[in-house]
Amino acid sequence: MIEPDWWKKSTVYQVYPKSFKDTNGSGTGDIKGLTMKLDYLHDLGIDIVWLQPVYVSPQNDNGYDVADYCRIDPEFGTMEDFDELMLELHKREMVLMLDIVVNHSSTEHEWFKQARQSKDSPYRDYYIWKDPAPGGGVPNNWQSKFGGSAWQYDEETEQYFLTLFDKTQADLNWENELVRKEVVELLKFWAEKGVKGFRMDVINLISKDLSFPEDDGSIAPGDGRRFYTDGPRVHEFIREVYDQVWGPNHLITVGEMSSTTLAQCIRYSNPENNELSMTFNFHHLKVDYLNGQKWELMPYDFEELKRLLSEWQVGMNEGGGWNALFLNNHDQPRALSRFTDDRKYRTESAKLLATTLHGLQGTPYVYQGEEIGMPNPVWNNIDEFRDIESKNMYRILQEQGKEPDEALNIIRERSRDNSRTPMQWDTTINAGFTTGTPWIKVDERYRTINVHSQLEDADSIYNHYKKLIALRKELVILKDGMYVRLDESHPQVYTYARINEQETLIVMSNFSDQEVSFSIPDEFWNERMNEQVSELLISNTLHVPELAQSTSLSPYASYMWIIK
Ligand code: GLC
Repeated sequence: MIEPDWWKKSTVYQVYPKSFKDTNGSGTGDIKGLTMKLDYLHDLGIDIVWLQPVYVSPQNDNGYDVADYCRIDPEFGTMEDFDELMLELHKREMVLMLDIVVNHSSTEHEWFKQARQSKDSPYRDYYIWKDPAPGGGVPNNWQSKFGGSAWQYDEETEQYFLTLFDKTQADLNWENELVRKEVVELLKFWAEKGVKGFRMDVINLISKDLSFPEDDGSIAPGDGRRFYTDGPRVHEFIREVYDQVWGPNHLITVGEMSSTTLAQCIRYSNPENNELSMTFNFHHLKVDYLNGQKWELMPYDFEELKRLLSEWQVGMNEGGGWNALFLNNHDQPRALSRFTDDRKYRTESAKLLATTLHGLQGTPYVYQGEEIGMPNPVWNNIDEFRDIESKNMYRILQEQGKEPDEALNIIRERSRDNSRTPMQWDTTINAGFTTGTPWIKVDERYRTINVHSQLEDADSIYNHYKKLIALRKELVILKDGMYVRLDESHPQVYTYARINEQETLIVMSNFSDQEVSFSIPDEFWNERMNEQVSELLISNTLHVPELAQSTSLSPYASYMWIIK
């Protein structure tokens, strides 16, 4: 019997198809490339693959601007390739999770093309249109997340349409029942093809405040724009989809939640509410934003990182929600470069981040390249970047008075392209990603950092991940153990326990390049651990310490013990 929540013991692998593996020399990764690498993922222990958008798209936002939800973009292959992928996944007892982008569609979608024809078009109301403000100009001061006004003027019909992201990503009007029907239909289309899960792109932005008030700068509790984040009807809309597609088909769903709150995520992911299986939130990945601003650099606040992870661990557990655990994705610079040392201690650091994350409660996500310790690439100049957000911001930062060099430095650290360079398979040309010209540069360090060399080395980062993924399947405590933070604001060390009635699990990590000492608080030690036998489950040092109340930790050392 398969348990209904089997995925709580799984690890999801995120594939950015554009940069994963190219099989036809086009310079862009394709579906066949993923199929070709399934044995690699299977060997790693992955049973759920999240495939990012491969639908027909002008690719202004790398596929997050969908022009046809039920067809494959020729750049990525054909529907036959997709069917073959499904078959090969099935053979390996793996399942596919598709990325669904329905807060907005591309302006090249047929719905939008029809909608913009006239105010009377039956598709007009699929999108959000407003008259110019009384004196002319944009209807209100809402800003696009990629910079500039969120409103685009349509000359023909003399109205503005809403675009919370790029100007070619028009927000869909979920108030319109027909739009919700279309969403259900397209989800059913893929479910019938055997897709077992969906990652719902910025799904907490779908319900807007219908009075479209001026943004007065005040923000909602989760620091989101209060007029469209976790909006008035969002739970109702999500439940409607659950009832019609996700529930009856037993699908796994993860919602990407922009600037949300803990209370909201509990609501979204508590199974009693029939909404989503789990949620991504981003608070822990803003700990290096100066005053909350992504484009202002600051060293990351370690204490804040620990505080946020802990708050969500405890809160989601108490509220019956479920976390999607992650430190990397295609929108974030590499955590390895951001929070640790990606040069001298690269291997230790990559393993430390993995152990720290994979000991937590939730479903871990591994983003391609993370499992081999790919750092942020070396960027030489602005022309190497491809991302629309990075390009916009490079210009805007200079408009705001930054020198070109200063702007470039910010882009280097914060660009989403940091995680979008091609997967490094081996030491051959272009890291084995393509025989053509890659759409974005390959990081020059691929000769040392690549899959081939990691597979051969028993102590590699890859094999460390493999072990962690296997442990999650074996140990019930990783699924159900209660989280207790144990480091009492230590400036370099993060330590926590997971406890259930039979066992205690301890994860201890030194996030610094210094040798440091650390003691487990008396109260916890005396009550749970004294005179117990501990077993080291995984570590990143040659020296293997016994679990003791006081320990000395070498730079970036990280351990997981279990006490039975
Ligand atoms: C999500 C995606 C991101 C995309 C945006 C708009 O945040 O992860 O890549 O640009 O939504 O669809």
